[in-house]
Amino acid sequence: MVDGYLEEYFGFDVLPAVLRESMFYSISAGGKRIRPVLALASYEALGGSPQEILRYACALELIHTYSLIHDDLPAMDDDDLRRGKPTNHKVYGEAVAILAGDGLLTEAFHMLSVPENGIGADRLLKAIEDVSMRAGLWGMVAGQVQDILAEAKGSGDMKDPEHMIKFIHEHKTAQLLAASVRIGGILAGASHLDLDALTVYGRAIGIAFQVMDDILDIKGQTALMGKTAGSDSRKEKLTYPGVFGLQRAEAEARQLVESAIASVGAFGAKAEPLAAIARYIIDRDR
Ligand code: IPE
Ligand code: IPE
Ligand code: MG
Ligand code: MG
Ligand code: MG
Repeated sequence: MVDGYLEEYFGFDVLPAVLRESMFYSISAGGKRIRPVLALASYEALGGSPQEILRYACALELIHTYSLIHDDLPAMDDDDLRRGKPTNHKVYGEAVAILAGDGLLTEAFHMLSVPENGIGADRLLKAIEDVSMRAGLWGMVAGQVQDILAEAKGSGDMKDPEHMIKFIHEHKTAQLLAASVRIGGILAGASHLDLDALTVYGRAIGIAFQVMDDILDIKGQTALMGKTAGSDSRKEKLTYPGVFGLQRAEAEARQLVESAIASVGAFGAKAEPLAAIARYIIDRDR
């Protein structure tokens, strides 16, 4: 559903043509689509029909894809391979890659601001507030800045590396995953109690997701992941296994997933997709 919607959405013509081309290059490269799928699954857990919010779920994939294009730039993680293809700046150059990211981020909020399928402006406004908070200064952008600042320091020179790595993972990754789960609840008109349960779930799987991403950077295979293994050690990143050791990182990721599944237990059988996604997060090899 997500792949099909995005393919169609990017059918427009825009001048200069390279802008659409570069955005679509990264969007269509075959990501796992975890964030939109989470939004659809949480809307479904509250009794909604996923098709109704497909547009808004896909907006999250634009935000995520912009963050990957910028994350790969020479000034940030300086990576050459993403989603099994050369990174955006390798193909289009840094200036166009930066602007493709800007275009995706802005277009995401354009997508979120158009009412459809009976989803009213009041719910959309709430969704926009939530996503902009968690993707921006109070979430992902702050985490990405701290990730860069902590680079090449060596955890030995840092006052409290355990606190620092938790801040980074919570902000750079867990906040956007929490927003993805929450948007399904917000658009379904969830009660405070249900939204809280979804938030606890989203935060827990979000941290587990980044812990697993760090583990895969060590244990994973470039060919399967579509991005270069060992990138973190090359850039001397502060990582979860780096601070706590591989074994404890793996154990904590498992615990987080268990607690996430427990927190959506009250939704019953309708939350089975959410539970399955949580399990997938630690079972994945890409
Ligand atoms: C990678 O995200 C960046 C992180 C936040 C860890 P994904 O692992 O979801 O990347 P894609 O979308 O599948 O390429
Ligand atoms: C990136 O974390 C998180 C983002 C917000 C993009 P990483 O830098 O570890 O992600 P990968 O490993 O390059 O996908
Ligand atoms: Mg990074
Ligand atoms: Mg990176
Ligand atoms: Mg990584």
